[in-house]
Amino acid sequence: MVNHFLKFSHIAPEEIQPIIDRAIALKTGAISNALAGKSVAILFEKPSLRTKLSFWVGTEKLGGNPVHFAPEEVGLGKREPIADVAHVMSRMSEVAVIRTFAQTTIEEFAKNASIPVINALTDAEHPCQALADVQTITEQLGTVKGANVAFIGDGNNVAVSLGYAVSGLGGHLVVASPNGYEVPFEDVEGANTFGSAVDGSMKQVTSPQEAVMNADIVYTDVWTSMGQEAETAKRLINFDGYQVNPALLDQASATVKFMHDLPAHHGEEISHDLLYDSRSVVFDQAENRLWAQAALMEKLIQS
Ligand code: NVA
Repeated sequence: MVNHFLKFSHIAPEEIQPIIDRAIALKTGAISNALAGKSVAILFEKPSLRTKLSFWVGTEKLGGNPVHFAPEEVGLGKREPIADVAHVMSRMSEVAVIRTFAQTTIEEFAKNASIPVINALTDAEHPCQALADVQTITEQLGTVKGANVAFIGDGNNVAVSLGYAVSGLGGHLVVASPNGYEVPFEDVEGANTFGSAVDGSMKQVTSPQEAVMNADIVYTDVWTSMGQEAETAKRLINFDGYQVNPALLDQASATVKFMHDLPAHHGEEISHDLLYDSRSVVFDQAENRLWAQAALMEKLIQS
């Protein structure tokens, strides 16, 4: 069976910590040639800065060759059927990294691929981001076990993957969203089940103040994700009161750290300059995409 990483729960809870440990080892100087002589096809249907750069550089760090396709270049499912693209890529590369809209697109791709397929963001999940996030929390707090994490805003792809990652390591995620923008109920349940053996949990509330109470980490993401641009005006109204700013961080733990997966819309989900607040670890978090994904690719290619 080919190993894919299409959603966070495709790795078992006990596999998360070894990936983080390996990511930290690679970050602190371990050398790997896991991708020597191998190519990684990186196919994106949405814009990207961090994901493209981190997969490209991460592939090179493991001795491999990245091949990148820009949005619209391949025409996945339009110019060419998804299955055909998956078969061709499987003949010429050893890993496929896909960013697309519907989760069903990447699932269909993976069904037809004979190489590991990695979800580099869909509308449903952003599991690579969550791996980097739990690496960052581990670096900041020493462990995710028992950590109180608050996610303020849209119950979106980033919140869903984060829920599985935090819960799977025995941490506690509270998501505060306005009515109608909650994390899908099956994912709240799924994350609780995923973390049940290690007492991890995920909970949905509406009040940002309630969510940040005792939080060690306060996390947010854009109110309008890629593909939802037509809803921007409506979302600006509906998310009023959900901005993360210094005053909200002041209500969390005295040692709270602030996280954001980026890109950030300054003046919307965060106050201007919050990325540069002394409590922000956002750029460590961005860098960790590189190391977490390198550790992931190493694992998928070797297993
Ligand atoms: N929720 C955002 C994450 C961007 C990295 C989006 O899907 O656009």
